[in-house]
Amino acid sequence: MVSKRFLTGHVENTKTYTVLSQRLSVLKLPERLRSIAGFIPAGSTVVDIGTDHALLPIYLVKYGIAPKVIAGDLNAGPLEAAQKNVTEAGFADKINLRQGDGFDIIRPGEAELAVIAGMGGSTIRQIVQNAGEKAGQIKQLVLQPMADSGHLREWLVDNGWRIADEDLVNEDGRLYEVISAVPGTEETTDRTLISIGPRLFDKKHPLLYELLTGEIDKNRKIISEMERSSSVDTMTKRQNLLDRTERLEWVLKCLSNVRR
Ligand SMILES: C[S@@+](CC[C@H](N)C(=O)[O-])C[C@H]1O[C@@H](n2cnc3c(N)ncnc32)[C@H](O)[C@@H]1O
Repeated sequence: MVSKRFLTGHVENTKTYTVLSQRLSVLKLPERLRSIAGFIPAGSTVVDIGTDHALLPIYLVKYGIAPKVIAGDLNAGPLEAAQKNVTEAGFADKINLRQGDGFDIIRPGEAELAVIAGMGGSTIRQIVQNAGEKAGQIKQLVLQPMADSGHLREWLVDNGWRIADEDLVNEDGRLYEVISAVPGTEETTDRTLISIGPRLFDKKHPLLYELLTGEIDKNRKIISEMERSSSVDTMTKRQNLLDRTERLEWVLKCLSNVRR
């Protein structure tokens, strides 16, 4: 028979373990956020827009990457979670939580690097676009769009940003794109390469092949479903998708030649 003492100890150990693992999970950053952190030069003054749980700011402060972080969110609920995590991590004096829309939460010149992660590409674009003058004082954007990354990249290069570096991360079977952009002129002019990620292409990122085949397969299915329609609108959309898919296949071929 297992003694009561042992059982009590086990329960207490389990409790301790749970509390500890909850605390550690604040520091155990998902791959996606770790990749973002990798683009942040040490000593940067950072604003994390749409911080939610504040995992990234906690990591940046904990590992001395950023001395201080301004972490903002549009909604009160996520900020409450952020507040709890920041307090538990003991960084209430280093992570300044603010509620508001995009760059509204900072004064001009307060941050030199902005992170906007875990939102759709069009939301990210809107946030940067709405920043107005404040965007002019940002020296680096680190963006992680959940969708529509191609249009986001195109908008960036059309609006005075250069794609400085990029990464692709596979987390639990899903690919995430991370874009680091700086003020300047993008040297790549090919729109297809801009949309898929010019730096991902330059460095022949090992996951780019997978990203492209994923989009090509998805597009090919939609194209064949659209074949049945005789509406002019659908036929135009189908042709555009076909053009895009053929360009992606061309890029894939270039990558395959390099892989051989
Ligand atoms: C899915 S979470 C991403 C959290 C974190 N950045 C990450 O990548 O894990 C998106 C957060 O962005 C916030 N958000 C959405 N639009 C926003 C805006 N315009 N300004 C500030 N925060 C926003 C949401 O409230 C939500 O907490």
